[in-house]
Amino acid sequence: AKNPMRVLVTGAAGQIGYALVPMIARGVMLGPDQPVILHMLDIEPAAEALNGVKMELVDAAFPLLKGVVATSDVVEACKDVNIAVMVGGFPRKEGMERKDVMSKNVSIYKAQASALEKHAAPNCKVLVVANPANTNALILKEFAPSIPEKNITCLTRLDHNRALGQISERLKVHVSDVKNAIIWGNHSSTQYPDVNHATVASNSGEKPVREIVADDNWLNSEFITTVQQRGAAIIKARKLSSALSAASSACDHIRDWVLGTPKGTWVSMGVHSDGSYGIQKGLIYSFPVTCENGEWSIVQGLKIDEFSRAKMDATAKELVEEKSLAYSCLN
Ligand code: NAI
Repeated sequence: AKNPMRVLVTGAAGQIGYALVPMIARGVMLGPDQPVILHMLDIEPAAEALNGVKMELVDAAFPLLKGVVATSDVVEACKDVNIAVMVGGFPRKEGMERKDVMSKNVSIYKAQASALEKHAAPNCKVLVVANPANTNALILKEFAPSIPEKNITCLTRLDHNRALGQISERLKVHVSDVKNAIIWGNHSSTQYPDVNHATVASNSGEKPVREIVADDNWLNSEFITTVQQRGAAIIKARKLSSALSAASSACDHIRDWVLGTPKGTWVSMGVHSDGSYGIQKGLIYSFPVTCENGEWSIVQGLKIDEFSRAKMDATAKELVEEKSLAYSCLN
């Protein structure tokens, strides 16, 4: 039998945490033959609620779950973890300035970067979910210099999956027949959902989404804004932000990263930019990636038209601004 992997979930008493931990314990994230030990971190005021989640995990009697650590101590939480899913953060409350929210999250991610660097298992893979996801991941990367850059990522898979979902609804085809959408840039409303390279499986092979949809007007406007604004639409409907879809996408992100992407398929991940596609080096930017042997690599050589170029640059610009805002909070 395999040795258990230790998986940290921060903000585990929150709503994404509540959807995510049972998925991990069921093997959705790391596979049905991989035992796990869950490390759950939340802040002191949420300690009792967190303990309630731990009680439910015991009650659910998951065969793969070999242990549960529930704590408000960051060091204990990070000890020997192989995977860290960072969902905890400070939410934007009504009337708060962007800078105030940024400032709170910068200090959280700076502190947690140090804890991970000192206490996590070597080669720990990190996924930041909490917003501003790209910039929290950037801070984590800069303040954990001994963790390889390629081990620190942020979640844009939810946006990627939303793009696939919209195409499948439009074409009335199964979502698993649609692939190779791309989310470029920031996990925010400036993200660019790009279907120029996406395909749909049909009886006569894979066809370009653009050809099958045959409505450039829809693809260049309503499709893009629907994906960009989907988070807000969920909040409007549920009075709460997306949780089950965020949790499921976080599992997809880690699963594909660890176990590999299927042949001929790429996914979107927020990763350290190496300058590919002219995106400023060092930003955490969402790119199309393939994964093999536990490592992602950016898909190279895709043709970028003028329309795409402008949108890719606009979302990069926002990330540069967020980065300088984050740094202004450090001083
Ligand atoms: P939530 O408010 O229900 O849960 C957040 C949890 O984090 C709370 O239990 C809180 O006590 C905890 N927390 C706060 N500071 C912490 C710290 N320093 N250490 C550990 N835990 C801490 O929020 P929800 O709905 O679970 O969302 C979590 C985050 O994920 C938010 O920032 C949200 O904006 C983001 N999000 C990102 C998505 C993505 O696609 N990247 C999609 C959906 C949400």
